[in-house]
Amino acid sequence: MNRLSRITFGLSATFSFAIGITIFLEHGASALAQGQSANRPWMDKTLSPDRRADLVLQEMTLDEKIALLHGNGMPGWPRAVPGANPYLGNGGAGFVLGVPRLGIPIIQISDAAYGVRSSGENGRYSTALPSNVASAASWDVQAACAYGALIGRELRAQGYNMSLGGGVNLTRDPRNGRTFEYMGEDPILAGTLVGNRIKCEQAQHVIGDTKHYALNDQESGRDEVNVIISKRAMRESDLLAFQIDIEIANPGAVMCSYNAVNGDYACENKYLLTDVLKKDWNFKGFVLSDWGGTHSTEKASTAGLDHEEPMDDFFGEKLRQAVQGGRVSQTELDDHVHRVLRSEFASGIVDDPVQKSVVDIEGGLETSRHIAEQSIVLLKNEQGILPLDRAKLRSIAVIGLNANTGMISGGGSAQVDPPGRGATKWKEHVWFPTSPLKAIAAKAPGATVEFDSGADRASAAALAKKSDVAIVFAYQWTSEDFDLPSLSLPDNQDALIEQVAAANPRTIVVLETGSAVTMPWLNQVGGALEAWYAGSKGEDAVANILFGDVNPSAKLPMTFPRSEADLPHPHLVTPPPGSRNDEAKPTFEVHYDEGLKVGYKWYDAENKPVLFPFGYGLSYTTFSYSGLKVTSGSETTVSFTVKNTGSSAGAEIAEVYAAVPASAGEPPKRLVGWDKLHLNAGESKEVSASVRPLYLSVYDEGSNSWKVVPGSYTFMVGGSSRSLPLVEKVNLK
Ligand code: BGC
Repeated sequence: MNRLSRITFGLSATFSFAIGITIFLEHGASALAQGQSANRPWMDKTLSPDRRADLVLQEMTLDEKIALLHGNGMPGWPRAVPGANPYLGNGGAGFVLGVPRLGIPIIQISDAAYGVRSSGENGRYSTALPSNVASAASWDVQAACAYGALIGRELRAQGYNMSLGGGVNLTRDPRNGRTFEYMGEDPILAGTLVGNRIKCEQAQHVIGDTKHYALNDQESGRDEVNVIISKRAMRESDLLAFQIDIEIANPGAVMCSYNAVNGDYACENKYLLTDVLKKDWNFKGFVLSDWGGTHSTEKASTAGLDHEEPMDDFFGEKLRQAVQGGRVSQTELDDHVHRVLRSEFASGIVDDPVQKSVVDIEGGLETSRHIAEQSIVLLKNEQGILPLDRAKLRSIAVIGLNANTGMISGGGSAQVDPPGRGATKWKEHVWFPTSPLKAIAAKAPGATVEFDSGADRASAAALAKKSDVAIVFAYQWTSEDFDLPSLSLPDNQDALIEQVAAANPRTIVVLETGSAVTMPWLNQVGGALEAWYAGSKGEDAVANILFGDVNPSAKLPMTFPRSEADLPHPHLVTPPPGSRNDEAKPTFEVHYDEGLKVGYKWYDAENKPVLFPFGYGLSYTTFSYSGLKVTSGSETTVSFTVKNTGSSAGAEIAEVYAAVPASAGEPPKRLVGWDKLHLNAGESKEVSASVRPLYLSVYDEGSNSWKVVPGSYTFMVGGSSRSLPLVEKVNLK
């Protein structure tokens, strides 16, 4: 069978966004009569969010305006904003007073990277989805949408109408402690997926946020680091991810980051906030500071910061005085207020106020499991050790810390609390009560399934030796606020795996990690899975893949290097000894001299072998590629055929890369599109797609614009960034 799948790389998301607007307008028109009121003309839902914001703005006092431009503290914050009633908060990261007399609600803000934070502390329940980097491994726009929609629903059920999530900083250094909160190393993949996540989150009527803008690519000294990078390099790497994300999602808010970029803190950086974000990208929402990331009043306001969190140190009384003293103009103040109000109207939180309700726990678990199944990457499968044959297995050893009780999750402000327990502590290693041991035992009722924690390596090896197969669950815990000292698994787990594999080569390693790890034992084991932080139903997703009830289809959204020595910066650049977080100015610099060579672009340009390349992932079936045709004209189109050549149904993520003309001085290739194809055994499909010009362009600093460099372009198609069997050249003008 040969079916045609017509897609447009880079534009499909824009189409669905247009559909989203249509739905919003229809909804607005039908609800018009109820909301309209003679003395509150801004409640007319047929008016644009901008018009509605302007109408409210005209009625507001200076005090009311200032109140929209700062937070009011957060639980555990040492002091409260004078006059703000802390009981108005909902237990989240912050809240913004509304204007009750004008019908403008309080904005209740919660962190929500992979689920709604602080539920345990607040006596509530949240679903933990697989970590963000896991969802990027699905390369699946629909999964990204389901991810965002679930978070949007659970936010509202818990009484929140604004989310802090949508992290899209690129993986420049896999030791970054927040890698699990982001979407990998490629700007087009990361931007597309996070944009779809936020779009679907906002469709639930919450204000969505994307963060951390920009270049907060390491946690070491994050408040005091000054990132040095060229405009071209940032526009083509980290900023491109934000550009695509913002274009797809139109998020209500962008969070500026803690670090400085080329001398100015991100939250008072005119180039980032005004020149690029608000002017070039036409961003209509508001910029809020990361928590404590504001450093000034006038400079920040003029540079484009709209809102300070979590307090009012610079955008409270000091802002009022600056306005009254004429140092911040009324127009500038009104623009900040307009942006906050506009996002409130555009997101629907004014017309559809939040009402607390019961979270759909079963539905959430189902969604979480399904996304995890799309996210788990099969890294190694020697001699078909996987999927496990339950009819033949007599004994299974399950080895690894807590593999009898749970699976690890990512920490920091992203942390989702497991059900049935209270608040989790900052930097606590939180294991979700999702027992892989039980899930595996349930799959193989005829086998003896025994557990060993691995604390005693000899005992774990002895269990492996007497078992038909050994499954080792290995973890790497990561969190905001610090970076990994290395890419090795912690706590001597490499030695444990080596010893177990020496005792039984039929060893399978399941990695629960937030980022890449090195694998000195790889040649000794039979199989390896990257399960990331797998969320509330990770154990079932892993078991379904181990036993072949689900055929793995995920691909790595980041390179796994052979060692730290191969990274652009083999040694992390950390703050100078004795330096402390200086609120006034940065204390050290990190030079991103690798520039736009992020991730695979670096390894390709430097000709470095890698452990596993970007875009890599195995399946239980096999695929072949053929028939690449590239045509240029008003648009560049790429078509090719993928065939399932194995004996089971499966999904293949087909990847399209382009090498731009050598004169452009770019890395050897860049991802320009992909499609996820579900194919039955023997089935083939033709993919035909047009590639968006932006994705073939180079940023020209001289003219501040994107340009397609005329010349010869090489298109490459295949199943990973280092397995591209189809190659075709075309000239573009
Ligand atoms: C983090 C943000 C987070 C905020 C509020 C900051 O420390 O960097 O990502 O949204 O705290 O919790």
